[in-house]
Amino acid sequence: MAYMAKIGPSILSSNLACLGSECVRMMECGADYLHLDVMDGHFVPNLTFGHPMVECLRKSVGPDPFFDMHMMVSRPEQWVKPMSAAGANQYTFHLEATTNPGNLIKEIREAGMKVGLAIKPGTTVEELAPWANQIDMALVMTVEPGFGGQKFMDDMMPKVSWIRSQFPSLDIEVDGGVGPDTIHRCAEAGANMIVSGSAVIGNDDPRSVISLLRTVVSEAIQKRSLDR
Ligand code: DX5
Ligand code: ZN
Repeated sequence: MAYMAKIGPSILSSNLACLGSECVRMMECGADYLHLDVMDGHFVPNLTFGHPMVECLRKSVGPDPFFDMHMMVSRPEQWVKPMSAAGANQYTFHLEATTNPGNLIKEIREAGMKVGLAIKPGTTVEELAPWANQIDMALVMTVEPGFGGQKFMDDMMPKVSWIRSQFPSLDIEVDGGVGPDTIHRCAEAGANMIVSGSAVIGNDDPRSVISLLRTVVSEAIQKRSLDR
């Protein structure tokens, strides 16, 4: 199978004073990777953390957990090398934040990281398409980036379906308002990398939520491969 269901909790909604142990807890609850939201107060109206925090986190959780860095920053070129040195595995930048995506993709690869390309709700898939063969993952935002706990935008699903139809083996991630109530829509549309913040972290039983999300996505992937 070309792509797999992977669940990546967004630690934005966790107790940030205990980030290390929260990340370990998520991995122990069955997370496939960790989605780390970097915000600069400029590209989005909120502020989180940068590479010094990622470096500490890497030391605290060890070499195994996969760090998907969701870079909600202006001038994403600036942080490629520092993030790689800090232990990031994937650098997911916003198409809206750069004038030269091709060069940035090259720099991320040269720094030894995988490449994710994110689009905000107002950005079309036609704008992403020219880069799709050069990236590892496309991130379709299902809320306006900046805050956890927002309402899922169902009208983003045609974008996911279109990318899946054009690039059948590409990893497609959805982020924002995704949880047990909305996962079926994402899975049917063809998303396979699922970011979930408040629905996982805010639940008393994160293990069950992660497992449910993975089951729904795995079943949709299986169905698609049988239908082909
Ligand atoms: C929002 C962030 C998300 C956020 C998701 O800008 O990119 O990763 O933490 O949180 P929920 O799942 O609560 O929408
Ligand atoms: Zn995110």
